[in-house]
Amino acid sequence: MGIGGSLSSGGGGVESGGYGGESGGNGTGGGSGSSGGAAAGGTSPAGGSAGPTGGAVNGGGSGGVPASGGAGGADMQSGGTGSGGADPCVVDHGTGIPALGDYYAGHFAMGAAIDTQYNNYASVLTKHFNSVTAEDQMKFEALQPSEGNFSYGTADQMVNFATNNGMAVRGHALVWHRQTPSWVYSGSPDQVLSRMRNHISNVMQHFQGKVAVWDVVNEAMMDDGTLRTNDEEAGQESGWFGALGESYIAEAFIAARAADPTAKLFYNDYYNYHPVRREAIYNMLAELLAEGVPIDGVGLQTHLNLEPGTDPNEQSYHQTVANLEEAILMYSSLGLDVQITEVDLSLYLRGITYTSDMFYTPQNVTPEIFEQQAERYRGFFDMFREHSDLISSVTFWGISDDNTWLSEFDSGRQDFPLLFDAQQQPKPAFWAVVDFCN
Ligand code: G3I
Repeated sequence: MGIGGSLSSGGGGVESGGYGGESGGNGTGGGSGSSGGAAAGGTSPAGGSAGPTGGAVNGGGSGGVPASGGAGGADMQSGGTGSGGADPCVVDHGTGIPALGDYYAGHFAMGAAIDTQYNNYASVLTKHFNSVTAEDQMKFEALQPSEGNFSYGTADQMVNFATNNGMAVRGHALVWHRQTPSWVYSGSPDQVLSRMRNHISNVMQHFQGKVAVWDVVNEAMMDDGTLRTNDEEAGQESGWFGALGESYIAEAFIAARAADPTAKLFYNDYYNYHPVRREAIYNMLAELLAEGVPIDGVGLQTHLNLEPGTDPNEQSYHQTVANLEEAILMYSSLGLDVQITEVDLSLYLRGITYTSDMFYTPQNVTPEIFEQQAERYRGFFDMFREHSDLISSVTFWGISDDNTWLSEFDSGRQDFPLLFDAQQQPKPAFWAVVDFCN
């Protein structure tokens, strides 16, 4: 397919422009002091008139016009007690917590990844989110642990919880190099292809009508812009590629379309802000589409850190709003729907080796750190709203900081990457995401 690494130069130039653009573009420095203050405090009422939140301010060129419906509804919740008129788009923190999904109703769906503990989060989940993704329970090893034995019990419970609460479900993930049993790859290429087709058709038909969007292929690309092969280091290798070569990608989408013609079929990957990966994924998708492979959308995982990395040779150096925005524009120029699929924002920076004495704990994370996190979230969500005509959903990879894949059980390193704290209360990041004032 000729995807390999053709555009690997020029990353540094994009980065320096992008990073400057990020901090300038967010308008958090001085242009909108009232919004910054509101997000920072987390407790103090400010303004809170019943006027539109996002629509009026944000609508001027952003394509975010429909936001006023949902945002207005949420604002009414906080409207009555504000001092009135100071700034119609400032969220009143004093009288209630606006629902995230309401605020974004005119923009895109708001999702969260859930695991088997979802009942412990039912209140915050159903209030704020209108879409869910099973974090692990719909992956290959969970649904077909041994050949021909499909195991739907846990996933069914999660999907039923979602549908009973009026929430959409993103199916994740049909074909991935991880969390796939090794028996899948044994035997001849024809056997492997047959297993892939069988898995896709069994799973998609089981969930037909309840799961409208599927990550059909996940993470096929390597950091250097070449396809993931079976020769990568341990844990990174793709048995699918090993058995079928690059054809596995097209085969998976073709099988998925046949299995459930009503489902939207997505390619999902990470580090889309990195110019090399961004370009390589774009080229791959363009070629697949040109060949007639049925792909409806692209998922941008968007696992973020508090700051971009400092090493130009490392992907997170390019982790800027501008670079991610470019990815959204490029993929949607192919006619693809864009979904942001796995958002979180780690406090830890790439390129630093953290010893246990440097770990963040609930006791030592400062308000300034959470404020920095909030401003970083603000920049990305301001940009997402500007492109809500291109983005159909944004999903967080978790709900609250007590349950995140980023907290490492073995080392004891805790992370605090989400909008809600361990008590399921909104953090400054939450208030920044629902503050449409910029
Ligand atoms: O279920 C077993 C449990 O029985 C066992 O006691 C325990 C001991 O380690 O492991 C449990 O399985 C873990 C599983 O999560 C469920 O908690 C696996 O070890 C662990 O590897 C697995 O991690 C998941 C990871 O994907 C695997 O690659 C994370 O929860 C999940 O958040 C993460 O999600 C991925 C997306 O699918 C794709 N994009 C990146 C994202 C983050 O890595």
